[in-house]
Amino acid sequence: MADANILGIETSCDETAAAVVRSGEKIVSNVVFSQIVTHQPYGGVVPELASREHLRAIVPVVRKALSDAGQTYRSIDALAVTQGPGLAGALLVGISYAKALAFALDKPLIAVNHLEGHIHAVLLEERQKGGFSHCGRDLKFPVLALVVSGGHTHLYLAEQRGETWSYRNVGHTRDDAAGEAFDKVAKVLGLGYPGGPVIDRLAAHGDPSAVKFPPPQLKHPDRNAKRKLEQDELRFDFSYSGIKTAVLRYVETHHLRESIAARRTALLAIPKPRLEDYLAVTDQPTLDLVASFQRAMVEDLVGKTLTAARAYQVATLFVTGGVAANNELRQRFESAGAAEGVPAYFPSRPLSTDNAAMIAAAAYPKFLAKDFAAMDFSAEAGMVLK
Ligand code: KG4
Ligand code: ZN
Repeated sequence: MADANILGIETSCDETAAAVVRSGEKIVSNVVFSQIVTHQPYGGVVPELASREHLRAIVPVVRKALSDAGQTYRSIDALAVTQGPGLAGALLVGISYAKALAFALDKPLIAVNHLEGHIHAVLLEERQKGGFSHCGRDLKFPVLALVVSGGHTHLYLAEQRGETWSYRNVGHTRDDAAGEAFDKVAKVLGLGYPGGPVIDRLAAHGDPSAVKFPPPQLKHPDRNAKRKLEQDELRFDFSYSGIKTAVLRYVETHHLRESIAARRTALLAIPKPRLEDYLAVTDQPTLDLVASFQRAMVEDLVGKTLTAARAYQVATLFVTGGVAANNELRQRFESAGAAEGVPAYFPSRPLSTDNAAMIAAAAYPKFLAKDFAAMDFSAEAGMVLK
């Protein structure tokens, strides 16, 4: 099979991204336009603004991805676009543009699940380094993938038959996603948006054992379960709204409101705060709170994933999505995985957060299988990965 250059397009949330990936194993170009500055004043993503920014950015971002790759609209072999899950209006911008291009150029179009994209970010980069051959010979199955981002905390058992990948969900969050908890806690503490990267850097300056958070309790069966569970099916669900409430309670009982308001005002006056700027306005008890929060999140994510890994006797772990960029999470997974004899793989930090290279990589097996999208497919905000 000759090499195939796939142009990937991703607009599911607050990044407008396009990339060219060769045969699922070589990033030829990768352009990410982040909308953080647009959403920052609101402390989170505003869906209407996200759609508007995607509309503005999509054409130049795709053009740049093609020119960086030394490709043209005509020379690429196929297009791939994120179908869901994500913000409906944001997804529609990428989908409409990809459909128009595919129609005008008479090229195949592949619809990709964003979560499958995050999983394929790991495969893409390992292959780029020379590992994990396409036929999967040196990738040991079963693979357990933790997809942990701003919108998702999911555990999947991933399988490959021929070129086709399939996924079985064995755990998900019952309430907040892990990245959402990082973002909400940062907002509560006046640290701005997005919260994950700031908390990651500040946590190194605090005492992670200073504040004790009770481990999340899952008292009720999952009321949102889309299907009846098989009798012997083991589930490993997450819950992060309790820890966020515990941080709020800590803020109230320790009278931190005033210092938080002062921090918020001070940081808003700095266009791009550096670590020193954050440290200058964050007292030690708050740094301890941040470090303790991160430790509790990491322990729960690593603990549940490894319990699931043991129960399903997996051979390989993938950890991916925005929160997989977290330093402590990576270290803990590496050491805990090594202790269990299950290697843990992550994407590089730039490929952990949203990008289009992962979409183009996930599209390659579908390209080989000629699994092309009909022109009438639409955005699926709540798309499930199977
Ligand atoms: O995968 P992603 O870019 O978008 C979604 O699909 O949601 O993930 C974004 C999330 C945000 O919640 C952000 O705070 C979190 O990933 N994040 C981090 C780190 N970098 C990004 N969380 C913890 N530590 C980080 N270093
Ligand atoms: Zn994502």
